[in-house]
Amino acid sequence: MEHPSKQSIDSVIAGDSSVAGSSMQRWSAIEPNIAGSALQEAGAVLASGGIVAFPTETVYGLGADARNTAAVEAVFAAKGRPSDNPLIVHISQQNQLDSIVQRVLPLEQQLMNTFWPGPLTLVMPVIEGALSPRVTAGLDTVGVRMPDHPVALDLITAADCPLAAPSANRSGRPSPTTAAHVADDLAGRINGIVDGGSAGVGVESTVIEVEEDGRILILRPGGITREQLLTVADRVELDPALYGVAAETAPRAPGMKYTHYAPKGSMSIVTGEHMNEVAAFMQEQLIAAQTRGERTGVLVFDEDNTVYEGSLRLTLGSLSRPEEAASRLYGQLRAFDEAEITFILAQGCAEQGVGLAVMNRLYKAAGGQFIRV
Ligand code: TXA
Ligand code: MG
Repeated sequence: MEHPSKQSIDSVIAGDSSVAGSSMQRWSAIEPNIAGSALQEAGAVLASGGIVAFPTETVYGLGADARNTAAVEAVFAAKGRPSDNPLIVHISQQNQLDSIVQRVLPLEQQLMNTFWPGPLTLVMPVIEGALSPRVTAGLDTVGVRMPDHPVALDLITAADCPLAAPSANRSGRPSPTTAAHVADDLAGRINGIVDGGSAGVGVESTVIEVEEDGRILILRPGGITREQLLTVADRVELDPALYGVAAETAPRAPGMKYTHYAPKGSMSIVTGEHMNEVAAFMQEQLIAAQTRGERTGVLVFDEDNTVYEGSLRLTLGSLSRPEEAASRLYGQLRAFDEAEITFILAQGCAEQGVGLAVMNRLYKAAGGQFIRV
């Protein structure tokens, strides 16, 4: 009898495929009694050069042995990811760092002690030859994190190698927060998926670099907030290239220059002092769009109780709970695609706490289209 935690999915996907024509394994790690053997199997696939998607506390990742160039190349191919965008390396034990990075600064050590396991990626100088050069995309640094998810940690241990893992979406699509999202994007292109239920945080890890002078530079806002980092360091700054206006310099995290996370429809963010003015402006724009034949949608917060006639209305929860907005964001962007919405207006929230990461992702999903009422 087939193992109950495993089923083969025959999937044929048009276009270039890294694991062309192969069937994809699905392992369930949700029920604790069968999770152990499922993870052993998935770990063995990774150890032998396969590529497997797995849950983390942020979003699902697509893992490969970070030392195996063929496996890492298969990850880039499956995602359709530009080769100049480096991958984050995931570890399950701090001592794995010794063979990956040249040195750990005292402040970096303190950050790891405080926030690992957790959604914080530290960019540090890589030991030459320790990893496939494809992981670092030719940079002399590597981003490393220890995910706060039992399935991810057990899988890394079972594979017995550091796992290079970008988010498990096709490049440009919203990151996946469920195994079903992964299958929608990557079925037939990867060797398998470990299903661990919904990812919790919903937006990716915060990527930081500790500067020589002791400043922390946020290269990508994420699950660990600026406010949390300020409990450990005096100076925490955002890479100025992250925001539209200052974007003449290239962002330090190469991935931040791409229009990521985007739904298929065109999207704009609408903000303003007063919710009723924002809502009235949105109504007008939506009606005009419907007249042009667009299928319209709105992404709003619970505080706005306007009925947007003829528009798909999806909510990110209350403005007072940015954590909820983070956990819902990518699923809602995918829901607009499912409903074939072509014109989306999204409300903004305060850039505080994880709201900073939510606004960063919304801004990128909207390709920088921003209206202030
Ligand atoms: O939460 C996460 O970080 C998820 C889960 C799967 O762990 N992973 C993830 O990976 O978001 P990815 O590949 O989608 O995003 C990695 C980001 C990119 O913006 C990349 O440019 C940046 O991290 N990055 C990676 N290595 C870097 C380096 N050496 N220097 C600067 N930025 C780096
Ligand atoms: Mg990504």
